[in-house]
Amino acid sequence: MISQRRVIRRIKNLSQQLSREYQGCNVLIIGVLKGSFIFMADLIRGMSIPVECGFIQASSYDRGTKSSGRVRISGLERLTIRGREILVVEDIIDTGLTMKEIVRNLKRRGARRVKICALLDKPARRKTDIHPDYLGFTVPDRFLVGFGLDWDEKYRELPFVGYIK
Ligand code: IMP
Ligand code: MG
Repeated sequence: MISQRRVIRRIKNLSQQLSREYQGCNVLIIGVLKGSFIFMADLIRGMSIPVECGFIQASSYDRGTKSSGRVRISGLERLTIRGREILVVEDIIDTGLTMKEIVRNLKRRGARRVKICALLDKPARRKTDIHPDYLGFTVPDRFLVGFGLDWDEKYRELPFVGYIK
């Protein structure tokens, strides 16, 4: 779907954009495990400002590949959220239910501002008003793998974004 060269080039642009926007902000960048870890590593390596990193995990109680809408978030208790400028980094936004729950939790814990950076956006299946503030690529309604995204824990290591036929 998206070649290694295109992904890397796009992430470099995002890193530069984020460096400008978060200059002097003491931003806390929170990656959503596991899918975001490869994107996040490249993203922060390309940045030219100091950043703080944290990770949370989100899991939905769904069978198969469709989100059920019930999301559980763990790892927030290890982070200091109150008063912070926060950027949440996700691999892909699909229905938006996961991200909606993450943003709700961060605001409840007193975040000053929460913005979203996603590598991929699949707007076709959106069920919420969530949209990424910073985005790599808009993608069609296919099941995607690679660059951190998995299919049943497989294919995260692929250096490009592919789709399951
Ligand atoms: P949402 O709550 O429906 O927005 O789903 C978000 C999560 O579902 C993402 O963080 C991914 O982990 C997973 N997901 C959604 N679409 C795909 C896909 O095409 N490939 C792999 N994982 C996906
Ligand atoms: Mg995910």
